[in-house]
Amino acid sequence: MARTMIVHAAQLATPIGKKAAKGKAMGELKIIEDAAVYIEDGIIGAIGTTDELIAAFSNPKTEMISAEGSCILPGFIDSHTHFIFGGYRTDEFIARLEGKSYMDIMRMGGGIQSTVNSTRNASLAGLIKSGKERLDSMLMQGVTTVEGKSGYGLDYDCEMKQLQAMKRLDESHPIDIVTTYLGAHAVPAEYKGKSEKYIEYMIKDILPEVRKNSLAKFCDVFCEEDVFSVEESERLLLAAGNMGFQLKIHADEIVSFGGAELAGRVKCTSADHLLMISDDGIKSLLDNDVTATLLPCTAFCLNKPYAPARKLIDSGCAVALASDFNPGSCFADSIPLLMALGAINMKMTVEEVVAAMTLNGASALGMAEETGSLEIGKQADIVFLTYDSYKFLVYNTGSNLVKKVMKAGKIVYER
Ligand code: NIG
Ligand code: FE
Repeated sequence: MARTMIVHAAQLATPIGKKAAKGKAMGELKIIEDAAVYIEDGIIGAIGTTDELIAAFSNPKTEMISAEGSCILPGFIDSHTHFIFGGYRTDEFIARLEGKSYMDIMRMGGGIQSTVNSTRNASLAGLIKSGKERLDSMLMQGVTTVEGKSGYGLDYDCEMKQLQAMKRLDESHPIDIVTTYLGAHAVPAEYKGKSEKYIEYMIKDILPEVRKNSLAKFCDVFCEEDVFSVEESERLLLAAGNMGFQLKIHADEIVSFGGAELAGRVKCTSADHLLMISDDGIKSLLDNDVTATLLPCTAFCLNKPYAPARKLIDSGCAVALASDFNPGSCFADSIPLLMALGAINMKMTVEEVVAAMTLNGASALGMAEETGSLEIGKQADIVFLTYDSYKFLVYNTGSNLVKKVMKAGKIVYER
């Protein structure tokens, strides 16, 4: 048995629970000064002060790791990304700076369809190579679990290629990858004007194969005006749910569209974006235990108003924060930027930001029993900071404070 003990952490800060922290509970972190964590075979066996754990678990075979005055936290969970793609969309970004809207560019044949063309032309090896570089960047920022979506292939071969790339990376990279099938990201050019037929194609020809080969845990849909209607989204999500997928939805991003209401109706694990969520939508998430995943880096990059984080939390919802890293609306994987936007622009407290990046991110991936907090029985996914308090995460605005990362009991990154 591999035994490890982290000692002398100036501070340990963690949310508590095996489910998302909702409403007020998001602000309640457990704090231990001069903390220690005892780990057996990658799983947390005990948490306490350094004195308590040394007295209880001292053993010559235990590997000791001194946290040297760091604050330690659960590994960050980026529960919404599109990190596997070919090509870039620099010109679109400049066009947006010059005043074109995201949807204008999409209607003109750019946007997602442009990345679809580049991703179809990319090789599996090429997607794995760029995917690894992107994961390395996430790891340096303390991410220990990431969600990755397909959705830049749309046809059978290329969707499978994206999902395969993530499967291979999951096997070889320290970051755990949770995969999502997002064939309903856009109506592909070959189905233009025939979105119903495209939904049928996904239900009949793609989802069963994805399921059979265990290539995705979640099914997601971009439910938005001029993309997939609420009815189309509902049909797809219900079919996917019946096949055993857990569900996610890109909802109420550009217009208030009934996406959050649908998320509650079909029992999505998370509803994401929510810039334009209605009061009925908030109620639907609350009543059905759907985690509200907010993606403020996208709002920042598109120069749009932020999702109503305060209202969601004050209504009792569970909020997660994620990057939405993708080549179009948000080519930004920055965890420090994400946390700063959460606290400064969305008025979340620093404690709520921590819960949103850890336990609630895990809940958005259906993994809150395994990771997302520092508690007995959970995986030892731990971030060590250069400072002695979690409060520096926002105070030292925009800087990466991650000094060391442990994944399942092993140090996988150190600077
Ligand atoms: O979550 N909103 C839809 N999908 C992505 C954008 C993807 C892209 O622009 O390539 C998002 O923002
Ligand atoms: Fe997205």
